[in-house]
Amino acid sequence: MPGIAIIGAQWGDEGKGKVVDSLASQSDFVVRYSGGANAGHTVVVDSEVFKVHHLPVGVLHDGPVSVLGGGMVIDPWTFRDELENFKKRRDPGEIYIAQEAHIVLPHNKKNDEGGGFVGTTGRGIGPCYSDKARRVGIRFGDLSSDAVLRERLGRLIEAKPNSTAAVGWTSVDIAFDALTDVREYINPLVKDTGAMVRQGLKEGKKVLFEGGQGTMLDLSYGTYPYLTSSHPTIGGVLVGAGVSHKALNGVYGIVKAFTSRVGHGPFITEILDDDMALRLRGTGSNQWDEYGTTTGRPRRVGWLDLVQLKYACDINGFDGLVVTKLDVLSGLEQVKVCTSYKKGQPVYQDMPGWGNLKGIEKRSALPKEVLAYLELIETYTEIPVTMFSTGPKRSETFGEVSWG
Ligand code: IMP
Repeated sequence: MPGIAIIGAQWGDEGKGKVVDSLASQSDFVVRYSGGANAGHTVVVDSEVFKVHHLPVGVLHDGPVSVLGGGMVIDPWTFRDELENFKKRRDPGEIYIAQEAHIVLPHNKKNDEGGGFVGTTGRGIGPCYSDKARRVGIRFGDLSSDAVLRERLGRLIEAKPNSTAAVGWTSVDIAFDALTDVREYINPLVKDTGAMVRQGLKEGKKVLFEGGQGTMLDLSYGTYPYLTSSHPTIGGVLVGAGVSHKALNGVYGIVKAFTSRVGHGPFITEILDDDMALRLRGTGSNQWDEYGTTTGRPRRVGWLDLVQLKYACDINGFDGLVVTKLDVLSGLEQVKVCTSYKKGQPVYQDMPGWGNLKGIEKRSALPKEVLAYLELIETYTEIPVTMFSTGPKRSETFGEVSWG
């Protein structure tokens, strides 16, 4: 059963899209298991930049079937726009939505406006997962039957009369009609994707489970309450894709060579010096600078936090780590790494910096300072670094993972 999970080891934006992209051509299925349009993956293909929000990165390859798993919450209108715009640039191949995935509805988006105290992406993610937990959400599988959809909408409007009325959904008929055009578009894409993937695994097909967000944004194990409403960690893979633990041959953590975070909440290694923060964040002139793919917000940036990373390794049971964006630190005289906390403050180890990494294609060719950096990560976490990247392009990710 060759399945591999790609999981963010920090607060999201670790470069998962690039890693999934580098593995997708070997995969038969690429399955996103959690979140929704709050995610944003930027992938550079032959200098062409693709930004995807709902779509699994598998759409950038000819081979794999792309699946939006049952743990996701999907806005069908923006999904349709995203897919149609994508189709103008390339053929996405086969793509399916799980019947269990929940629909982000207009009242969910309205309730998420402004981002609240968490500083959410404002895409209706939390309110949609709340409806799901309250058992009044609408699932993609509900769209295929008029009777079922009407019954579900009735229950939703009864449970939430004020927020549904605020977007004009004052009756089942109005809500039902508002969904008509999108139902026609979506229905052919909805499937029992869990059964499809399980069957694929039985046949020995390769399945890549693509994470969104990151470990520290996990609803249970992240920095509550400053986090997202889903489970980007290992448990979320099983629940979100409808597979058993036997589906996983390898679990890989993606870690940026420094740390970033969008939205509010604790961030112990945050760099508060404006000049140094700008140095790591970039000005925004490059697509891969540290500005939210979904919201455009400047990301908070900080040094690598090994205490946090070790926690992510323990929670997820990583088999290997992929270290991205080493090139962003190029040119710094000194690089700091947090190795412990003292009275809530980070204790840093200073490491010598390194120069340009262009053209380096294997680990042994990396400057000794980078090797020392990677070795410190490995010694501290007791997890091997199996891949690394030195730039945003497909051709700048090196190493490999084992499909088992
Ligand atoms: P929500 O997921 O929109 O509810 O946002 C909750 C928190 O998670 C906010 O701090 C967001 O900035 C953060 N967040 C959600 N998705 C991502 C992501 O893909 N990358 C980084 N942060 C994210």
